[in-house]
Amino acid sequence: MDCIGYAEETLEKVKAKMKEVAKRNAHKVPYITTAGIYDNRDGDAISWWTNGFWGGLMWEMEKLTGDKFYADLAIELEEKLDVNLMDYEGLDHDNGFKWLLTSVYHYKKDGDMKARNRSLLAASHMAGRYNAAGRFIRAWNDHVRPDEDIRGWAIIDCMMNLPLLYWAYEETKDPRFLHIARNHADRTAECFVREDGSVCHIVEFDPFTGERVRSYGGQGFGHGSSWARGQAWAVYGFTLSYMHTGEERFLNTAKKIANYFIANTPESGLIPCDFRQPAEPDYEDTTAAAIAACGMIEISRHSEGRDKDVYLSAALKMLKAIDEKSADWDPSTDNITTKGTVAYNYGEKETGILYGDYFFIEALMKLSGSDFFQW
Ligand code: GLY
Repeated sequence: MDCIGYAEETLEKVKAKMKEVAKRNAHKVPYITTAGIYDNRDGDAISWWTNGFWGGLMWEMEKLTGDKFYADLAIELEEKLDVNLMDYEGLDHDNGFKWLLTSVYHYKKDGDMKARNRSLLAASHMAGRYNAAGRFIRAWNDHVRPDEDIRGWAIIDCMMNLPLLYWAYEETKDPRFLHIARNHADRTAECFVREDGSVCHIVEFDPFTGERVRSYGGQGFGHGSSWARGQAWAVYGFTLSYMHTGEERFLNTAKKIANYFIANTPESGLIPCDFRQPAEPDYEDTTAAAIAACGMIEISRHSEGRDKDVYLSAALKMLKAIDEKSADWDPSTDNITTKGTVAYNYGEKETGILYGDYFFIEALMKLSGSDFFQW
């Protein structure tokens, strides 16, 4: 079957299942499933980094079905996030994940001015985390690790949030947003990407001089390892920097990381939590596969000749592996992708994680030729 046919057929299964999932979880802020049931990150947990993805997923479904029910749920979530927007300690480098998928998309689609205001506040806060000496955007706030000095920490995940700054530049024409996003991307290419194309999760800079101090294993197996979701954030994140700036060096960096990812993809097409994890326990991570697939489809779209096929085939292989081996199509459970893993050394393993579904559906929509795009 051709790519478009495969994607369309799989999206029919998505529509059938998501109708039930959205009704059951309508007013929740889901993140992770236990035995197929989503939790709820509303209330005290409203600042959690994944809390924009339910909105993003609802907008995906609105695009796929045209049903206003989904748009109403996305906007309800966007409004709930206002509590987070007024909570300084709950804002960080992840503002993009929360407001690109909710208010920015809502503004671009409907011209809603409250949504525009939310989006510019979130972008301005994120720009304010820029460390000019080190040319990086600071990651978490002090309370996340009260016993450590994390003022100079930056993480690879931030690459996926840069489109909030690119959007703010495109919207306001104020180049501060562009300078910050581009400088962060350049510094990340310089300090996170290894010779072989693998990337570090966390890099510590001296917050006063800006010099690189060291790296940490973060959510991967250990120091010097290769956390697959981090590689995936980098593949898609550098591709997005290329798409917003047109600067070839970002596409070349994305390809270098994608080549490493492809070279380390097992024959099964199932992606491990860390490409350098031991044989046991060998946790799978469907979120990494779905995110990387989105990045590789975009790389393919922006390439010529052989590269076009190489990245598209690699993406298709991972999506089919999820569909055939690590997906749950039963409408009575909440997650589609199973086998999402939070981190190698802590957190939930091989379970449903909301953004695994979000990126899986985004990838299928890309393959089907949809122009849906939130980044
Ligand atoms: N951004 C955190 C994670 O990927 O788990």
